Amino acid sequence: MNPIEELKQEHEAVKLTLAILHRIRLTIETTGTIAEPAHLAQLIDFFSVFVDRCHHGKEEELLFPALAAAGVSTQGGPIGVMLKEHQLGREQVREMKLALDRYRAGDSNAARVLATHARTYIELLGQHIDKENEVLFVIAGRCLSSSQLNELTKGFDRIEAERIGAGKHEAYHRLLERLQEVYLETA
Ligand SMILES: [Fe+2]
Ligand SMILES: [Fe+2]
Repeated sequence: MNPIEELKQEHEAVKLTLAILHRIRLTIETTGTIAEPAHLAQLIDFFSVFVDRCHHGKEEELLFPALAAAGVSTQGGPIGVMLKEHQLGREQVREMKLALDRYRAGDSNAARVLATHARTYIELLGQHIDKENEVLFVIAGRCLSSSQLNELTKGFDRIEAERIGAGKHEAYHRLLERLQEVYLETA
């Protein structure tokens, strides 16, 4: 698959998890409690491993350097903004995890703290994905040669195998299907 299309497909999976997180956040804001902490723990694992280590890893370690090699500036400009937003997203995931740990340890106030960070993360990542799809990936389509695209495909496969692996990848698919049924198809 074209590596840019691969990143776009991953964006669709991320948007689905953001929609699930949105539903959970609304319920927490209404009730002040977390009905299923295990579901949030699974989502946070997905944001940390699939989104950050794997997807953002492909972008930061391979796509952005390939764009830089093709002459796109990495200081400021779209790449600088994307890097900054990855960093901000990482901080929100860390805060959600800390809040969930506190909630599980008996601090009921941590539920609303978690909901606030979830809201920030959803807004941040939603607009981040739109910018990548509509701006950065368009630039990539114009700048990258077919040999650079082939190199990206190989590198993406390597990152995927190292950081997720086939078994875990399938497990994430099943998780998303399950959570989608619980949170998005019952509305
Ligand atoms: Fe990104
Ligand atoms: Fe992305």
